[in-house]
Amino acid sequence: MEQNGEQIEEERVVSPEVQEREASFDAALRPKTLGDFIGQPVVKENLRIFLQAAKGRAEPCDHVLLYGPPGLGKTTLAHVIANEMEANVRITSGPALERVGDLAAILTNLEEGDILFIDEIHRMNRSIEEVLYPAMEDFALDLVIGKGPTARTLRLDLKRFTIIGATTRLSMLSAPLRDRFGMHFHLDFYGPDEMHQILKRSSGLLDLAIDEAPLARIAERSRRTPRIGNRLLKRVRDYGQVMAGGVLDEGVVDKALAALEIDTLGLDEADRRVLKALVEKFQGGPVGLSTLAAATSEEMETLEEVIEPFLLQQGLLARTLRGRMATDLAYKHLGFTPPERQGTILQ
Ligand SMILES: Nc1ncnc2c1ncn2[C@@H]1O[C@H](COP(=O)(O)OP(=O)(O)OP(=O)(O)O)[C@@H](O)[C@H]1O
Ligand SMILES: [Mg+2]
Repeated sequence: MEQNGEQIEEERVVSPEVQEREASFDAALRPKTLGDFIGQPVVKENLRIFLQAAKGRAEPCDHVLLYGPPGLGKTTLAHVIANEMEANVRITSGPALERVGDLAAILTNLEEGDILFIDEIHRMNRSIEEVLYPAMEDFALDLVIGKGPTARTLRLDLKRFTIIGATTRLSMLSAPLRDRFGMHFHLDFYGPDEMHQILKRSSGLLDLAIDEAPLARIAERSRRTPRIGNRLLKRVRDYGQVMAGGVLDEGVVDKALAALEIDTLGLDEADRRVLKALVEKFQGGPVGLSTLAAATSEEMETLEEVIEPFLLQQGLLARTLRGRMATDLAYKHLGFTPPERQGTILQ
């Protein structure tokens, strides 16, 4: 196994990003209808009305933008929408559309009411984006034929279709593109009960005999992210099968998660290493990103984009003007006594 940072990151059990070998597993557990989709009540309610209205008018629905952190159900929801609209869905992604011709070929092949799902839409090339504007607004494609003074534009009419865009980085989307989506839906982290229900549904689909209490244990440590919850469930299943004759009780769950070095908050070894460094080497901080990266042998980017967001969200880490700080909660979680602080109190 390679030992560079990227390789290790791919292997993290608590990474919210999809890992290559779990794609089919992901698809098998994916809810197909709005009724099956657990949580996100506001999104679901708005979608239900919006889809019903479009269906009632026998029109394709307006373009939809889905945004939120990885693993929360954007791709799932895009398929749910297609399913509810009884529409065909074509799938592409921002980075896959390299040339204007790639997009033109897809768009001209769409039938009335088809859905085009563009994943990672923030990574789409600007020149392609410009072709998309009239396509989304007027269902027309303006193609430039020839070069130089003899060049002319040709306008092709397209069938009325729907674009569903998904992004983890809304701020990286240009304003004109954002504005062309009639509906915006923000997916947020799931609550403990919702995570529990999701895992219950998944364990049913996987035919696992597992009670409520061990499921709750897994739900608690899933970082409020369905993809991570499903992954932990699978790891627990494997562990139970090999080490406990298929029994999946609380004891087995605890042992399986301990073997994966995942603690009660869902933190793994890398998360704890960062917090520990803050507490033990820097008296809780504040400390700059590059210093912290050096002290924990993490890449600065990994630290900032992968490790910190969850720690921030859990209130274990604070970003201040002078640098990163461990909160009182982090001290307690690691088994240390929080220091007496003057001035701002970090909870
Ligand atoms: N609301 C939900 N109910 C049940 N399962 C869900 C729900 N949302 C997501 N999942 C499960 O989590 C997995 C990951 O979801 P999905 O692939 O849709 O995430 P995503 O937001 O598209 O992530 P990414 O940003 O990495 O593309 C799916 O396989 C699905 O089984
Ligand atoms: Mg996705």
